[in-house]
Amino acid sequence: MLSAASVIAVPWASGLTIDGKVYKVGIIGYGDRGSGLHRILGEMPEKFQVVGICDNLDFRLEDAKKAHSGKSIKYYKDYRELVEQKDLDIVVVSTPLSFHYNHAKAALQAG
Ligand SMILES: NC(=O)c1ccc[n+]([C@@H]2O[C@H](COP(=O)([O-])OP(=O)(O)OC[C@H]3O[C@@H](n4cnc5c(N)ncnc54)[C@H](O)[C@@H]3O)[C@@H](O)[C@H]2O)c1
Repeated sequence: MLSAASVIAVPWASGLTIDGKVYKVGIIGYGDRGSGLHRILGEMPEKFQVVGICDNLDFRLEDAKKAHSGKSIKYYKDYRELVEQKDLDIVVVSTPLSFHYNHAKAALQAG
């Protein structure tokens, strides 16, 4: 599983060439950056599909559900549950800076 801090995710993602695989993405932190990255990834459906979203604030999750109703996305309040989602290839960490270490570490340890 790849883990990327939000600050490097956009140029990295747009430059990828992938052998026809649609990579499954989980997003931890669904504020300005997380939801913005979701929109950008949504413009590349041949490369990426967001399948998991985590935020510890209820209203963030509710906003995400409304914006993406009908899509096959799982929602979490606890990042430790998101990183255990079986089909993930990539985890985007878009929480405040002080949380990046723990969130990226959890993603890497989950494999
Ligand atoms: N917004 C930008 O333009 C921008 C630009 C460059 C880099 N960044 C970086 O992106 C990151 C996010 O910034 P933002 O502007 O989206 O902030 P934001 O406050 O809008 O969003 C952060 C989200 O993370 C959630 N969160 C906090 N702790 C959490 C936890 N333990 N588990 C799950 N979710 C949690 C918050 O509830 C919030 O919804 C920061 O590191 C910031 O430095 C942001």
